Amino acid sequence: MAQLAKTASPATNALDIRPVAGAVGAEIFGVDLSQELNDETIAQIRGALLEHLVIFFRDQDITPEQHLAFARRFGDTVEYPLVKGVEGYPDIMLVIKHEHETVNFGGLWHSDTTYLEKPPMGSILVARELPPYGGDTLFANMYMAYETLSDGLKELLAPLRGVSVSNRPRVSETRQERMADSAKVTPETVLTAVHPVVRTHPETGRKALYVNGAHTIRFDGMSEAESAPLLDYLFKHQTRPEFTCRFRWEPGSIAFWDNRATQHNPINDYHGFKRVMHRITIAGEIPE
Ligand code: OGA
Ligand code: MN
Repeated sequence: MAQLAKTASPATNALDIRPVAGAVGAEIFGVDLSQELNDETIAQIRGALLEHLVIFFRDQDITPEQHLAFARRFGDTVEYPLVKGVEGYPDIMLVIKHEHETVNFGGLWHSDTTYLEKPPMGSILVARELPPYGGDTLFANMYMAYETLSDGLKELLAPLRGVSVSNRPRVSETRQERMADSAKVTPETVLTAVHPVVRTHPETGRKALYVNGAHTIRFDGMSEAESAPLLDYLFKHQTRPEFTCRFRWEPGSIAFWDNRATQHNPINDYHGFKRVMHRITIAGEIPE
C-alpha cells in the first residue's frame, strides 16, 4: 500500500474558476493553499491571474510561512519600502486599520508603489481580522481602460512617460498612521520613478494604461499644471464602474492581484472597527 501511494502521481484536478464581474476578477475553488501545490496547479493559478487580473480564494487557513511559500512559487518576495514588516517576517506587511483610526492604508485608487524603478508584479493579501461589515476592496482592469480610449488619444499617449512619486499628499495621508508607528525611512524621503504611460504586459503582451491617481504627478518633460487636465481625465476614465469588481472579504479570504494590469481601492467604510490584513509583495520588472 505504502509502495502504491508513493508511486501514484498526484491527481491534477482542474481548478474551479468563476468570474465575479464582467471586466475583472475571478474566484478560484478547489485548492488548499496551505498545501504544497504541484507545478501544474501553480501554472493554472498563474493562468487564471493573467486572464482575470485578480483572483480570489475563500475559506483558506494559512500560516505566515504558508503564505510566504505560496507567494514564492510566483517570484521573489520583496519588502514594502516605507513601512516595516510584521515582527519576524520582513516580507509580510501589516495592512491594518485600528478601531480609533480614520484613514485606511492605500484608501484611494492606485497601483502599488509605481514610484519604484521595478514596481511589483503583484501582491497576495490575506484577511486576518475583519470588520463586521464594510472594508471591501475594488479592483479595476487597466487593459480595458487602455483599449476603450480613442485611437487619437492612444496615439498621443504612446510616446509619453509618467513621473510617479511616493509623497503625493492624498496618498501620504492614507499611510500616516503606519509611518507614525512603523516607518522604515524618514518622513521626508521621496521615492520617484518614470514609467511608460502605456505599458506592455511582459507575460500577455497586452497594453495597459499605467498612470494612477495616487502616485503619478505629471508627464515626463511637462509641468504638473500642464499634465493635470489629461491626467485627471485618465484617472477618472480608468476607474469607470464597468471596468471594476468589488470583493467582499470573509474570514479566510485571499486576493492575489496582478499589479501590472490593475488598480485597487480599499473602501474606508467601517469606522470604529478593526481590519487586519497580511500582504506579501512579489517582485516585478522595469515596465516597458
Ligand atoms: C495594499 C492595499 C488593499 C486592502 O495592500 O496594497 O492597497 O484591501 N490594500 O487593504
Ligand atoms: Mn495597494
